[in-house]
Amino acid sequence: MNILVLGSGGREHALAWKIAQSPLVEKVYIASGNGGSSEVGENLPIDPNDHTAVIAAVKERDIELVVVGPDDLLAGGIVDALHAENILAFGPTKAAAEVEWSKAYAKGIMKEAGIPTAASETFTDFDSAVAYVKEQTLPIVVKASGLALGKGVTIAYTHQEAEDALKECFVDAKFGTSGNEVVIEEFMSGLEFSTHAICAGTKALMFPSSQDHKRIFDNDEGPNTGGMGVVAPLAQVSSEVMDQVRDEIVLPLLSALEKKGRPFSGLLYPGIMLTTDGPKVIEFNARFGDPETQAYMRLLDSDIVPVLLASAKGDLKDVFLSWGTDSVACVSMASGGYPGSYEKGKVITGLTDAEEGSVVVFHAGTKRDRDDILTNGGRVLNVTATGETLSMALDAAYAGVKKISFEGAQYRSDIGQKAL
Ligand SMILES: Nc1ncnc2c1ncn2[C@@H]1O[C@H](COP(=O)(O)OP(=O)(O)O)[C@@H](O)[C@H]1O
Ligand SMILES: [Mg+2]
Repeated sequence: MNILVLGSGGREHALAWKIAQSPLVEKVYIASGNGGSSEVGENLPIDPNDHTAVIAAVKERDIELVVVGPDDLLAGGIVDALHAENILAFGPTKAAAEVEWSKAYAKGIMKEAGIPTAASETFTDFDSAVAYVKEQTLPIVVKASGLALGKGVTIAYTHQEAEDALKECFVDAKFGTSGNEVVIEEFMSGLEFSTHAICAGTKALMFPSSQDHKRIFDNDEGPNTGGMGVVAPLAQVSSEVMDQVRDEIVLPLLSALEKKGRPFSGLLYPGIMLTTDGPKVIEFNARFGDPETQAYMRLLDSDIVPVLLASAKGDLKDVFLSWGTDSVACVSMASGGYPGSYEKGKVITGLTDAEEGSVVVFHAGTKRDRDDILTNGGRVLNVTATGETLSMALDAAYAGVKKISFEGAQYRSDIGQKAL
């Protein structure tokens, strides 16, 4: 069969890479892809947000399954649009994806279903939110409810900081309509990790634990990014904790969504805080993580395509995921200046040399220009490697990173240190 992956980041290159290995697959298309995805499939120069263009591409190329990468596509109802044309899609409907695109909705359904998460209140106006915050102990967490490119959350250590964050949402409209509703929640401390589950209805196939690194600089300093590196699995997260995540978080959410007439098919990605009271939800995402996927695809031994198809059809019976016993590390390389402004079009060298041993390089913001690969975005490459131990995986990934160069390249040198 032919499969279309929507998106153009490292996540989509990694998915296309894994899908292309399936004996069930003839051809992978990526819309719009990047300089790496065109090595495992064919990039289609269409805007994945343009439902009409996507549907036309699916019909023209005899595509049997569409796999949706980015969150904004799900929130824009791409899966509903494909279903209306009887096209199989991996990913939740707009209604089911509301657990990601509305943190207020997610908090509401978690409260109803008794899913462990930070205590919270939701507000739709500045004055009552400020009045509430003044009564709360510090630190306190202020979250724009809607999608905000990972920039909508403030951990406030003073009441003034909390008020400033509320002003950004309600008064300055810094996040557009995403800040018209705000969740104010209790600060949780503990070990932060995440996982993924491929779901359909009330069933879930769990991935191992993983840990992202959101800040641009070492020691978790500097502004937030899309993610600068991932390690998996985490030795600190026991199989008992992972069972709790499945039984107390993932499965109850799926049941609650089904009861509401919004059955969830696709990828559920909870962010978790491992507190002294056990794992609690920080947030739900309704799609594959980036760069978590780049790491996970390296650990997945079994064919992903039957599972994607089964989820898209709404029934996971007779399919499975089988995970290798290695550890994996993924180090992101970014353009100079990222996550602020940066230049594009820098020539990347050393890519072939870097892919030695267990190293696989997934492209993010790159494009092909004849024989050159040029930078074309903030996060440029994800260098992944596996190893018998996490430290072996990290050594291999960093050996790969050191062989690659482009003007202004930056990467964190401490990925995985906390996990070690
Ligand atoms: N209640 C909380 N307590 C402590 N830290 C939190 C809390 N909520 C969020 N955070 C921190 O803020 C980050 C971003 O919050 P999250 O809800 O995941 O929003 P998003 O990923 O949409 O920006 C989390 O990864 C976590 O480090
Ligand atoms: Mg998050």
